[in-house]
Amino acid sequence: MPETWWRGAAIYQVYPRSFADGNGDGVGDLAGLRARLGHLADLGIDAIWLNPWYPSPLADGGYDVADYRDIHPSFGTLAEAEALIAEAHERGIRVIVDVVPNHTSDQSAWFKAALAAGPGSPERARFWFRPGVGEGPPNDWQSIFGGPAWTQVPDGEWYLHLFAPEQPDFNWTHPDVHADFLDVLRFWFDRGVDGIRIDSAAVLVKDPDAAPDGLDPYTDRDGCHDIYRAWRALTDTYEGRMLIGEVWLPDAERLARYLRPDELHTVFNFPFLGAPWNAPSLRAVIDDTFATLGDAPATWVLSNHDVTRPVTRYGREDTSFDHADRGHGRPTDPALGLRRARAAALLALALPGSVYVYQGEELGLPEVEDLPDEVLDDPIWTRSGHTDRGRDGCRVPLPWSGDAPPFGFGGTPWLPQPPEWKNLTVEAQRADPDSVLALYRTALRLRRELLGDGTLTWLDLGEDVLAFTRESGVTCLVNLGSEAIPFTGEVLLSSAPVPDGVLPQDTAVWLR
Ligand code: NOJ
Repeated sequence: MPETWWRGAAIYQVYPRSFADGNGDGVGDLAGLRARLGHLADLGIDAIWLNPWYPSPLADGGYDVADYRDIHPSFGTLAEAEALIAEAHERGIRVIVDVVPNHTSDQSAWFKAALAAGPGSPERARFWFRPGVGEGPPNDWQSIFGGPAWTQVPDGEWYLHLFAPEQPDFNWTHPDVHADFLDVLRFWFDRGVDGIRIDSAAVLVKDPDAAPDGLDPYTDRDGCHDIYRAWRALTDTYEGRMLIGEVWLPDAERLARYLRPDELHTVFNFPFLGAPWNAPSLRAVIDDTFATLGDAPATWVLSNHDVTRPVTRYGREDTSFDHADRGHGRPTDPALGLRRARAAALLALALPGSVYVYQGEELGLPEVEDLPDEVLDDPIWTRSGHTDRGRDGCRVPLPWSGDAPPFGFGGTPWLPQPPEWKNLTVEAQRADPDSVLALYRTALRLRRELLGDGTLTWLDLGEDVLAFTRESGVTCLVNLGSEAIPFTGEVLLSSAPVPDGVLPQDTAVWLR
């Protein structure tokens, strides 16, 4: 693969806790992942992105990192991680790891030292410790997970955490923080990782003491760009490595600033993921994506470990996604959702740029919406005062084989799998040429063989149809209207049967 492999790669997101369990303790691990690399190679992906695999109390699924240079003991060892990187490379699969620079774990060495050292100490200066105002916190900032963004410690000071209290925010005005993260990047690049996914990339810079200036107090402050310039300069000292930012910003022009030539290589395209299932909205997102990217490649994302699975989302009356309202429990038509999710997959895989596939998307897994209260693990559930059930429903361990849970996952899964998943196992879908798995495998192969680089040209087939041709000559049509439409051309692949040259509603086809 070329130096700029990431410009057109298909990247599979592995949520290690839920991918495959090699040691039978009910939690996914590196042994399980290494044993299943064949599945990923067969699927035809170019790279994997692993959610955090570091030692962590798992107060936020591992996004509370206690040590950025080691592996969580329930996932395995650093030696196993190195073996995984080598084995993936042997199969031609690149490896992207998740780095969490906004916050750490309250069990990290630095935070424990800060607590022990007390007010005014240099150890506390690496975080945002402040005296309160009256009886209350230093300011009124709210945590993204709900509740106040400040927690008081026994000596009376408060510390800032934009997420859970177990995730204290770093003070990025402190030189130690800059230096340490550059060292973390070096640590993983030296072990052969090909890319870094940057968590919560736009909220690193803040100043709780500053007078309100009309700007958001912690989102998208200009100082973020200095950090990523330094990260890019380091990354460029290695060959073929990339940085992808998790940047949720509604303003396309502000988002594009993270993609300047000396900053990040790519960012996730969240507007695409959030768009409702209708042609004008999707077309607008696609056009905006290309209009604002500059030379950076587009990325296409339909799901990840934080959002409602497409099969469930697209079967609802409101098909859009927004963190503020996950729509949990709203009526959904699973057959309709699945039909649209299959069409959406062919759309995402046909667009120029790179594409991210979240584990289980290739199996058409639905969101698990009936997890019992007592198994819910996402801090959003408790922080929201039990009003938001959080993100566990898209994190249920994968079904691999067999007729009953744990479906070949390993031990009893840390989140229970629905018995109906017996029809959705990898084994069952391998035997079925019409399965979602078969669709993804064929689409990924054709994408690699036939789609190539280059842009797209829109075709006009009416406002309810997304229709475009790639420079390679392959055309993609997606019918989101209620009327079937006729088409001509050789069918390479379709998301549902297309008898007699007619494209039904909620169906996509690739033609040449
Ligand atoms: C974004 C991650 O994707 C999410 O899972 C996590 O909870 C927050 N950042 C905080 O790290």
